[in-house]
Amino acid sequence: MKPVKVGLCGLGTVGSGTFNVMQRNASEITRRAGRPIMIEQVGARRDNPDCDTTAVLVSRDIFEVVNNPEIDIIVELIGGYDTAYELVMQAIANGKHVVTANKALIAVRGNEIFQAAREKGVVVAFEAAVAGGIPIIKSIREGLTANQINWLAGIINGTGNYILTHMRDEGRTFEDVLAEAQTLGYAEADPTFDVEGIDAAHKLTILASIAFGVPLQFDHVYTEGISRISAEDVAQADALGYAIKHLGIARRVANGLELRVHPTLIPKQRLLANVDGVKNAVMAHGDAVGPTLYYGAGAGSEPTASSVVADIVDVVREMGADVASRVPYLAFAEPNRDVEIL
Ligand code: HSE
Repeated sequence: MKPVKVGLCGLGTVGSGTFNVMQRNASEITRRAGRPIMIEQVGARRDNPDCDTTAVLVSRDIFEVVNNPEIDIIVELIGGYDTAYELVMQAIANGKHVVTANKALIAVRGNEIFQAAREKGVVVAFEAAVAGGIPIIKSIREGLTANQINWLAGIINGTGNYILTHMRDEGRTFEDVLAEAQTLGYAEADPTFDVEGIDAAHKLTILASIAFGVPLQFDHVYTEGISRISAEDVAQADALGYAIKHLGIARRVANGLELRVHPTLIPKQRLLANVDGVKNAVMAHGDAVGPTLYYGAGAGSEPTASSVVADIVDVVREMGADVASRVPYLAFAEPNRDVEIL
C-alpha cells in the first residue's frame, strides 16, 4: 500500500523523540495504522545529534516541507506562536493534515486554526499539547463522551512539579532545580511560561474546550505560578501534612465555568499529592462515571513523542474517511456558546 508521507518540522526535544520513535517502532506503527507511514522530509534549522537523519531529506527552511506536494501530514514541533501559526495555516491551506504539540498556539490561536481546518476538511490533532504522554485529550473526548463533565483538576506542568518535588525532597533551591529541568528538556524555551503558570493556563484552556465544548479562551484563566514559593513554604507545608502542588482547575459553577491555575495545599494522603517529579495527573469528574484519574509523564522527549505519533496514526486512520466523520472540532461538533467562562 502507498505510504503516508509525513513532514516533520522541528528537531528539538520532542521532534527528535518523534523521529526516533517512528523509526524504532515503524513496523508496529504500520500494523496499527493499516498502512506504512514514512518521514519524507525534516525541516530543522540544525541537526540533532540524537537522530540519524542521513536517510531522510532535510531542509533548513521549514516552509519547503509545508509546500512539498508529496507530504500528507505536517507535524509542527517548532513551538512558539508566530512562525508556528504561519506554518500551520500554510499547511492547512495546502490541504495537509496537521499534528502539533504546541499548546501555546492551540490555546491562543486555535479558534482560527480549527475554523480554517474545517473549511479545508483537514484534521488538526494536538494530543501532545496537554500532559505530555498522557492521552488526556482522547480520554476526555472519546472515553467520557457520554458524560456531562462537572470538573477537572490536575497537575499539568511537569517542570513545575519537578521543581516542587525536588525542593521538598532534597531541600534544593528553586533556581537550581529549574536549571536541571531545563537540561532534561522539560522546560519551555522561555521557562517563565512554566514557573508563572502560563504553560498550565494554555493546557487548561485546551482541556476546558474539550471537556465543556467552549471556544478556546486563554484570557479567561486566572493564572498564578510557583515562582514565589520558597523552600521554607514547601517545608512548612510538609510539616503540616500537605504537599504544595500547582493545579489547573476547571469547574462548572452556578452561573458558568471557572478556570484557574495556582499553587494549592493538598493533604498528603490524597492521590494528587503523591504525583511527583515530571509526572502529570488529571482528574476528571463526569456525571455518569464519577471521578477518573489519568497519570503519566507530563514532559520529555519520547513521552511527548508517544502522543505525537498516536495522533499521526489517528490521522492516517481518518484519511480514508469522509470529512464529516473525521475528528470533530475540539470535542463537540459545534462550539458551545451557552456556557460563560467567568
Ligand atoms: N514545559 C512543559 C512542562 C512541557 O514542563 O510541562 C510539556 O508540555
